Amino acid sequence: MGAAVTLGELTFREQLAAATTTLEAAGVPTARVDAEWLLAGLLGIGRAAVRMDLRRTLSALLAERYADAVRRRARREPLQRILGWEEFCGLRLRLTDAVLVPRPETEALVEWALALLPVPGGRRLLALDLGTGSGCIACALASERSDLDVVAIDVSPAAAAVALGNARALGLASRIRVVAADLLDGVRDLDADLIVSNPPYLPSGLVAGLEPEVSSYEPRMALDGGADGLVLIGRLAAVARARLRPAGVLVVETAGGAQAAAAAELLSRSGWRSVAVRADLAGVDRFVAGSA
Ligand SMILES: C[S@@+](CC[C@H](N)C(=O)[O-])C[C@H]1O[C@@H](n2cnc3c(N)ncnc32)[C@H](O)[C@@H]1O
Repeated sequence: MGAAVTLGELTFREQLAAATTTLEAAGVPTARVDAEWLLAGLLGIGRAAVRMDLRRTLSALLAERYADAVRRRARREPLQRILGWEEFCGLRLRLTDAVLVPRPETEALVEWALALLPVPGGRRLLALDLGTGSGCIACALASERSDLDVVAIDVSPAAAAVALGNARALGLASRIRVVAADLLDGVRDLDADLIVSNPPYLPSGLVAGLEPEVSSYEPRMALDGGADGLVLIGRLAAVARARLRPAGVLVVETAGGAQAAAAAELLSRSGWRSVAVRADLAGVDRFVAGSA
């Protein structure tokens, strides 16, 4: 026999239907899926479990908290920000409003960076993750390679604190050092095997026109790459070789397409060798690498 439904209580089915209508009206493109995720997040269960239990009801307290989460999403706050986490390379990263929500395409940056890591030759390897944000790249690299230490750098102390929290929560803090500094200023004494970066790369003029989840909620410092989006990549091209061992590599994410070609050109002109471009899963040239 099902649980008795108190007057005023709504089933999951009804809650989800109402939330989906609200989110659709707010222009959220994935309204139903987001409604399910918000309910799952509130209850600490998987989305599939929500879908399998549509006759269950919420207590008044939980219903109010669900309505609050739906209101936030209707204001176009990113789903992951409301949930407080995102999965990246199989790891659960905690998020705050100080960090970019990790994007799936950046998983391909990690994959390529791992493939380009020089052969260890019996010693520990060192990677620098520049603009670490949530620490997603640093944590993914360290969790994949136990012979790798990572220095995770971000100019934002608040972002650096999130990265450190994630490294600790994932049991990786003994191999990830987090530094709050501009570019490579905090690591002048290090020789790395790999420098990886998903820098802010959007042309300044484009930021305001992006979807509200990005333009209104992501930290400007994580998005704005200057007039052509290439300011940080240009600075890295100029200084990163001095921080790499002879066989070391630099791998960066770009906005894709023409910007990837421009970044490759920048690297070549700055004296990087074996400069290569790699496409993302959508087939768009997006990642650029060069050897020291
Ligand atoms: C696009 S986000 C990437 C965050 C994370 N690595 C990811 O892939 O989701 C860029 C990050 O670079 C940081 N950043 C911007 N300018 C920087 C600088 N000059 N030095 C170090 N970090 C910087 C930002 O604070 C932001 O966290």
